Formats: sequence, structure tokens, C-alpha cells
Amino acid sequence: MNLKGKTILLTGATGGIGEAVARQLADCGARLILIGRNETSLKNLSRELQLNKHNGFTLQADIATHTGLETVRAALIALPNPIDILINCAGVSLFGLLEDNEPAAIENVINTNVTATILLTRQALPFLNKDQGRILIIGSSFGGLGFPGFSVYCASKFALRGFAEALRRELADSKIQVAHLAPRATNTHLNNDAVVELNEALGNKVDEPEYVAAAVEDLLSMKNIRDLNLGWPERLFLRINSIFPRLIDKALLGKLPVIRRFASKHSNYVNSKLTTFGPT
Ligand SMILES: NC(=O)c1ccc[n+]([C@@H]2O[C@H](COP(=O)([O-])OP(=O)(O)OC[C@H]3O[C@@H](n4cnc5c(N)ncnc54)[C@H](OP(=O)(O)O)[C@@H]3O)[C@@H](O)[C@H]2O)c1
Repeated sequence: MNLKGKTILLTGATGGIGEAVARQLADCGARLILIGRNETSLKNLSRELQLNKHNGFTLQADIATHTGLETVRAALIALPNPIDILINCAGVSLFGLLEDNEPAAIENVINTNVTATILLTRQALPFLNKDQGRILIIGSSFGGLGFPGFSVYCASKFALRGFAEALRRELADSKIQVAHLAPRATNTHLNNDAVVELNEALGNKVDEPEYVAAAVEDLLSMKNIRDLNLGWPERLFLRINSIFPRLIDKALLGKLPVIRRFASKHSNYVNSKLTTFGPT
């Protein structure tokens, strides 16, 4: 697909990966509708990318609230043409041992990563181009490999992978395509100091958001989009985990003391202000 002139709705546009994706797609000449909560970041991005040149715009919306979803719905109704691509990139993380995770922080992760993504996708479906619409869900390598210290985040990303797979099959007799892209650790504010230190201690490779953004462009430019896991050896670990999970159990048991040390030192960190579904 040639992305020039395509209308693309992007959530999480004010985040590390989202901003890089927005820049990459703006360079392709796409018409961008960028969603985030941070008004200043949205304004700066809009100015930098000259969104209005291509009839693009920003939407300030907390998608984990009914009001935020309503804001997005109203914008979709007002559009003269269908959207070509929906990219679900908004997300929050939670690092810490489950027993230390506060219930409100757990709800926030599930509400934002799972419920909000599903509701927003459902809401966008009737506005997608019936002849060539695309839905891209930004998951995580933790959506295919349960990792100690991230049980809630993993639960949310496993859910998204299942959602993407089922929806792809549900829409298989239409021309709307669905794909799931799983980045590995990426250098953004999603990861607090504890996670950054943990990745260093474990020797985990960390990508720059621009690398993920380039992969998004490559994927969306294909004739048929497909699921993609980024990074080596993560791709191998995901494959081994799906066939011989006990091998990964063993490998992670060896890392558990280090993970516990960082997790308990920084328990209850949540990278985002908490939101719950409700009238506001
Ligand atoms: N960074 C990584 O290591 C990594 C690895 C694999 C997958 N991912 C996934 O990649 C995606 C982007 O992550 P990132 O690293 O770019 O994180 P980030 O820098 O923390 O950005 C998160 C984005 O999500 C938005 N967001 C969060 N809650 C929201 C809500 N309730 N309503 C509307 N927007 C909301 C934020 O908006 P505001 O800033 O405006 O609040 C921000 O734009 C996430 O889905 C994440 O799970 C990240």
C-alpha cells in the first residue's frame, strides 16, 4: 500500500514509539489523526509535522474513559472520508511483583491496554475503508512470553495478541486486514529507571523507537500485512516458548533473583496517571 494521502488514526502518538511512528508516516505523506492525552506534546507534534498541510489534526482524549472514546467517535463521524489505517499504540506498563502491584494500577493497565484498545477498535470499525482498511495493534514480545515482574503487563499484551488474531480471522472474508506488531524493549519513557537497570543487568537488547517506526512503515506498505515480532533473539525465544515452555521456565528461573531485586526495590511504579472507565 502506498501510504501517501492515506488517513491514519494513531493512538499513543505522544509517546516514544508513537511520536517516531507519526514522524515516519508524516514523511510518507499520510494524513494523520494523532491521539494522546498530553496537550502540549500534541500541539508541538502538530506544529513540527505540519499536520494541517495534509488535513491532519490531533485529538486530546483519554481513551480509557468513556468521554475520551466519545471524543474519538465524534471526530470519526465528522470525517468526510473513511480512515484507511488504525494503529493502536497507546499503552502503559507496570513493573513489580504481583503481590506488590496495587489493585488500581492493575486495573489501569488492563483498562488502557486491553479494554480501551478493544473499545476503540470496535468504534473505529464502521469508519474503516471497506476496500483496503487496516488495523495494526502494537503489542509486545511480552505478549508471547510471560516474564517475571511483568505479570499484569504480560496479561494485557497476551490479550491483545489474542484479540488481533481472532479479529483477523473474523474479518478474513472482508478486505480489512489486521496485524499485530510486537516490539521488544524500546528506549522510551514507558520503562522507568528500574526497568532500564534491569535490562542492563540481564543484558537485554533495547531498540530505539525509530527502529520500531521504520518497521511499522515497512509493514503497512506491504500488500498484505502480517504479524511481526521484532528483535533477535526475542523472536527465537518466542518460538521456543510456544513449543518448549519448560526451557524458558528454566532460563528465567536463573534470572529470577536479579528480577526480584529490581522489582522489589521499585515496587508499584506505574508509568502513567491512573484512569478508570467512568463518566468523566
Ligand atoms: N517501550 C517499550 O519497551 C515497549 C516494548 C514493547 C511494546 N511497547 C508498546 O508500545 C506502545 C507505545 O509505548 P511507548 O514505549 O511509546 O510508551 P510511552 O512513551 O509511555 O507512550 C505511551 C503513549 O500511550 C498514551 N496513553 C497512555 N494511556 C493513555 C490513555 N488512557 N489515553 C490515551 N493515551 C494514552 C500516552 O499518552 P500521553 O503521554 O499523552 O499520556 C503516550 O502517547 C505501548 O503499547 C507499549 O506497550 C513498548
